[in-house]
Formats: sequence, structure tokens, C-alpha cells
Amino acid sequence: MSSVFQDAIGTLLAPIKDLLDDPSVSEIMINGPHEIFIEQKGLVFKSPNQFSDEEALMASMRAIAQSVGRVIDQDNPRLDARLPDGSRIAVVIPPMAKNGTTVAIRKFSEEKLGLKDLINFGSLSPEGARFLDCCMYLGKNTLVSGGTGSGKTTMLNVLGSRMPKTQRLIIIEDSAELQIKAEHVVQFETRKANPERGIKEVSIRDLVESSLRLRPDRIIVGEVRGMEALDLLNAMGTGHDGSMGTVHANTPLDACTRLETLCLMGETKIPADAIKKMVGSALQLIVQCNRYHDGGRRTSHISEVLGVDAHGRYIVKDIFRWVQTGKDPETGKYIGEMIPCGYVPTFFEEFVSNKLPFPKSSFKAPDWAVPKLLEEKRKKAA
Ligand SMILES: Nc1ncnc2c1ncn2[C@@H]1O[C@H](COP(=O)(O)OP(=O)(O)OP(=O)(O)O)[C@@H](O)[C@H]1O
Ligand SMILES: [Mg+2]
Repeated sequence: MSSVFQDAIGTLLAPIKDLLDDPSVSEIMINGPHEIFIEQKGLVFKSPNQFSDEEALMASMRAIAQSVGRVIDQDNPRLDARLPDGSRIAVVIPPMAKNGTTVAIRKFSEEKLGLKDLINFGSLSPEGARFLDCCMYLGKNTLVSGGTGSGKTTMLNVLGSRMPKTQRLIIIEDSAELQIKAEHVVQFETRKANPERGIKEVSIRDLVESSLRLRPDRIIVGEVRGMEALDLLNAMGTGHDGSMGTVHANTPLDACTRLETLCLMGETKIPADAIKKMVGSALQLIVQCNRYHDGGRRTSHISEVLGVDAHGRYIVKDIFRWVQTGKDPETGKYIGEMIPCGYVPTFFEEFVSNKLPFPKSSFKAPDWAVPKLLEEKRKKAA
């Protein structure tokens, strides 16, 4: 991008420049020219910043679109793009957007979080983190599940960075967000169609298909949202152990169902029960991310997928769970911890044979939590 253009954007974005420059602001949400919210430390606040009017806001969005080789106008009223600094921007303009031009900017952070940060934030326990580390080493097929903005991409980045450094990793994303530091990483980004310029779409599906011919050891699909679910499952089931992806779902069980639904979205000839079995056998681990009402982003579950039972239900067992035990009356922050659920995963033998530093006793639930876990199990069964 030319610097003239960058200057132009800088000027047009002047009303939110201080927010863009403030490292404590992680997200900027613009609901029309006069209403701007920001996210700081997981909580959303209203900001006094404003654009002068709709035209000024629209002009800056047009310039941003142009700077990334795209157009936003009545024929193309939505934009999803990555800015040159790595930030992600999503825009919808009126008349679809009733508040006026609506924008969300997920700011790029230079400092990528690591397993240690997630432990410090209380998002993972040290044991939970060590367990995930072992699973990454062993190449367990892992799905990171969660709602919007729950921390899925961050988790995938953290987990990806724990893979054995020498393996050939192929990453496929809609907009390149992951920054996995390893020796042998190949990164692909999709391309949107632009019929006016004769540009054809290159989808996640296309890129997964190509990547399978590019001798990957592991494949990561940043966000599984369509039929590529089937390709990812195929990759997982055909020797690319340790492949990963993220999916929008609220519980580990929902994540399995969601993946199944995505596989069935297209014109696949594979019968539904066969797809279910594929999901059940290809997936091994689900890491569930959650954004709680106190603003905290936590790993609510680390679960093993064991397959499908005789009634066609997924068998999913929690290995670790985040349990709330109280609430700080002053800060409103939840008090709680990630605990082992007393379940030893079926692949624990691999920990032993690979001499991984994770004793079986670490799966034992703390005494105080046992009645709570039993009660929940009873409720689930009822
Ligand atoms: N465990 C965590 N603790 C605190 N902040 C976190 C944590 N995980 C992620 N974040 C922050 O939360 C924001 C959203 O994270 P991320 O992009 O990973 O979410 P996502 O689930 O991938 O979102 P989307 O659904 O939009 O793709 C980022 O600013 C990130 O730095
Ligand atoms: Mg994401």
C-alpha cells in the first residue's frame, strides 16, 4: 500500500486514531457515526469518540476498502478484510445497517499470547496447559470450539506453536491471522471473487484440497464454516495426525454436531450416519473457549471425543473443566479454577510410552469438586 494512501486513511480515521493507537483497546465497534464502543480487558465500554457524520464515516470505509483492493458501495455493501497492520475489519453499510455504517475492528496485537499467558490470565490451569502441550506433541486431532470473540484463534495460535517444530504445517485461513512460529510453516489465504475484474474465488475448500497434495504433516484450518469440514475430517482420518481447526459452538458436544452439520451442508453423497462416524473417529480432542459475563475468557472444557454410541450420540468425556466457585464482590470477577474431572483419556498409554511428564494422578478430581461433578453427571443422565 502506498504511503499516500496510508496517510489518507490515517486522516480519515482521525476520529478513532487514539483508540487505534491505544494498546489496551482490543476491539473498536462503530455503530453509525455517533456511537463507538471499545473493548478493554475483555469488557465493553462506550467511548466518547465520534465521526462528524455518516458521510465522513462512509468515506473512511471506502478508503479502507480501496486500500485493500476491494470496494464498498451499494452493490457490495459488506466488507471483511485484513488491514496492512494485521487488524481485521468488518463493515456493513446502510440501508442494511440501521444504525448507519457499522464497523468492527479487531486490532492486531504484536504480542501473541502463549501458554504461560493463558495460565496467568486464569484461562488454563498449569496442568491443563501441560496436558494440551503433551497432546500437541502426540499429534491429537483437535477442534477449538467457542462463540464469537471467545478466544478460539488465540488458542489455535498457542496450540499450533507447541507442535513439534520440524513438522511441515499448512495453515489455511480466510484472512491470515495465525502466526505460528515453527521451522516449516506454509500459510494460505482465500481469495474473494471479483467478477468485474475476472477474479474467481479460491475457497478454504480449494486450498485444503491443494494442501493435501503439498505433503503436509499437519493441516490447520483457521475457521471451519462450510463444506471444508469434510475435507478437514478426511485429512485427520488419512494420516495427518495433529490437524486442527476452530468451529463456532457453545459446548464440546455442540462442536461435534456443528461439524457434522457443516459436512452435510453441501451435496455430499456420504450418508448422514457415516459422516457422524467420521466426526466421532477423526476428532480426538475439543478445547472449548468461553467468554464469561465478567469479561474473562476462559477454557471451559478440554474434552476427549470417543466416537458415537449405539443410539447415534457422540461420546464426549471432559478431561478438564473450569468451575466457578464464587464471585469477587468488589470487582465482579468470577472466582474459580480449571479442575481435572477424574477421567483418564483413552490415549494416556501414549503419554507413558513417550515418557511425557504428565502423571496419571493429575487427572484426579480434587476432593471438593467430586460431589459437584457427580451431581452434574446425574443431571446429564436424567
Ligand atoms: N484467554 C484469554 N484471556 C484474555 N484475552 C484473550 C484470551 N484469549 C483471547 N483473548 C483476546 O480476546 C480477543 C478475541 O480473541 P480471538 O480473536 O482469539 O477470538 P475468536 O474466538 O477467534 O474470535 P472470532 O469469533 O471473531 O474469530 C483478542 O483481543 C484476544 O487477544
Ligand atoms: Mg477467530
